[in-house]
Amino acid sequence: MNPILELAKERFKGKKVFAVMSAKGGVGKSTIASLLALNSSEKRGTALIDLDVYGNSVLKLFGIKKLHEVSKEGIEPFKIGNLSIYSVGGLVGDHYVVLTGKQEGGVIESLLGFTNLKDDLVFIDTPPGMGEELLTLKRILKPEVALVTLPSRLSLKTVEQMLIYLLDTGIKPKVIIGNMAFLETKNGLIYPFGNLEPVLKLGEEYGIRVEFLPIDPSIEDFIGRIQDYSGCIKVTLKRIFVS
Ligand SMILES: Nc1ncnc2c1ncn2[C@@H]1O[C@H](COP(=O)(O)OP(=O)(O)OP(=O)(O)O)[C@@H](O)[C@H]1O
Ligand SMILES: [Mg+2]
Repeated sequence: MNPILELAKERFKGKKVFAVMSAKGGVGKSTIASLLALNSSEKRGTALIDLDVYGNSVLKLFGIKKLHEVSKEGIEPFKIGNLSIYSVGGLVGDHYVVLTGKQEGGVIESLLGFTNLKDDLVFIDTPPGMGEELLTLKRILKPEVALVTLPSRLSLKTVEQMLIYLLDTGIKPKVIIGNMAFLETKNGLIYPFGNLEPVLKLGEEYGIRVEFLPIDPSIEDFIGRIQDYSGCIKVTLKRIFVS
């Protein structure tokens, strides 16, 4: 028996967990997970867990530079209103991290096992790829999955493989999000990553709902204060995810 794993399983018993995933990097997982969690926290206490051991984008998006406090109940979250944020970056600081797969699994188990998790609704930002994080996460809980892709065929191919893997392991994603799908201009919509048909086809083939998010160049101004962002990505996510 692995006591930390058991502790982590215990912490997540009865919680509703949404994981934002993609085998492809840079498609918007951290942005989407953060905005989904912010939307949810407008209505109820919500947790956001950053499982990206190497990127720690969530802390950067919210402009959090402190370390987690630890009480006798566990790792205490960073609070943004009703949102509780947990991140490996909040344990190690702004440092590079180099880990073997096994060590990485241990770090994730510990983060999940030792959090002082109070909220019943949890959003998880995951790293790109299909490595140790995914395997560890699956040992602990069965999340509802939002699978993120760009409409680009290169991204879609990688994401389809992750989709097949998830289906093989008994997880059917709730939604496929085609991020950065279009840009609104004075002269109408443009589609920088190609037309949206292949994403729709992927959803159709596997019976999964597909939703699209616009490109919002203004999001760049909100890195470090994403809690102040109220633009079109956030508004669209509010319509897609009613939790
Ligand atoms: N809809 C969007 N419109 C404009 N920019 C976006 C949009 N979604 C994400 N971005 C930008 O794209 C970049 C990558 O986003 P993000 O870090 O959220 O992706 P990621 O999938 O989490 O990346 P990684 O795989 O490295 O974890 C960021 O600069 C982010 O601001
Ligand atoms: Mg990320």
